[in-house]
Amino acid sequence: MVSIYMGAQILDGKKTAAAIRAEIAREVSGLSGRKPGLGVILVGDNPASLSYVKGKEKACEEAGMMSREIRLPADASREDVLGAVDSLNSDTGIDGILVQLPLPEQLDESEVLARIAADKDVDGLHVQSLGALLKGEPTYIPCTPYGVAMMLSHNGIRVSGKHVVIVGRSTLVGKSLANLLLRKGDGGDATVTICHSRTPDLSVHTRQADILIAAIGRPRTITGDMVRPGTVVIDVGVNRVDDASRKRGYRLVGDVDYEAVSEIASAITPVPGGVGPMTITMLLKNTLEAAKNHRKQEGRTH
Ligand code: GUN
Repeated sequence: MVSIYMGAQILDGKKTAAAIRAEIAREVSGLSGRKPGLGVILVGDNPASLSYVKGKEKACEEAGMMSREIRLPADASREDVLGAVDSLNSDTGIDGILVQLPLPEQLDESEVLARIAADKDVDGLHVQSLGALLKGEPTYIPCTPYGVAMMLSHNGIRVSGKHVVIVGRSTLVGKSLANLLLRKGDGGDATVTICHSRTPDLSVHTRQADILIAAIGRPRTITGDMVRPGTVVIDVGVNRVDDASRKRGYRLVGDVDYEAVSEIASAITPVPGGVGPMTITMLLKNTLEAAKNHRKQEGRTH
């Protein structure tokens, strides 16, 4: 039999995110009283962080939520940053807090994240939230792992019993995502392998994946020979590479060699337009959840 290769299904993050954001906006419009509020702290002027923060604030507005930004200079002190977190913690108009990472070197990231009130930790990076995720208890799930999981489930890709190979061991993505997909029950029950920069013969592992997740932070690291035909490939990487033909002088590429791998995979996320829009969407979802929880505490019914 002659089989005609059809190419990978493109997992369209913009489309998937739009469907979930419409649902979030509908729920927000049904809330009485004040709008759900997100507080964002941005320290310094890292261009990628500025662009992420702008995207998050625009998405908030589009969903009918309020956002408040605190901008601090790159040389902000520990006290400045902890003070900013405290002011959002005590602001009753703020349901969720996000401290944009990475922070400048002089600041202790763990200390700053641990200062966020746990009930406002919509980014899910507080040590208490991460501990709950590890234990499989209810918590706010970090937005990128949550976005990856939602991208899979929303597109009918089940992870239960599948071998998921994650390349990258960051807390922000790799380790959190592994714990999420390992959880018992709906959306979990995967067999998970985590690979990283010290894993020898990476392709031995990546070629065993039913679902391969690249979260390395290096452009086009996953090449065609590292992927078995039929694998689902999720690219979490967002890398700027020089491109003189673009007005802004760069373009965004993922951690996966998209041209080669999309010929082999059964489904693949593009960059941009894949996981990125999902990450922001899950931040909105967590913020709405926090707003609903705060309303319950305040004794309102909706
Ligand atoms: N920087 C890159 N991704 C993220 C994220 O999901 N949360 C935060 N706080 N900072 C980031």
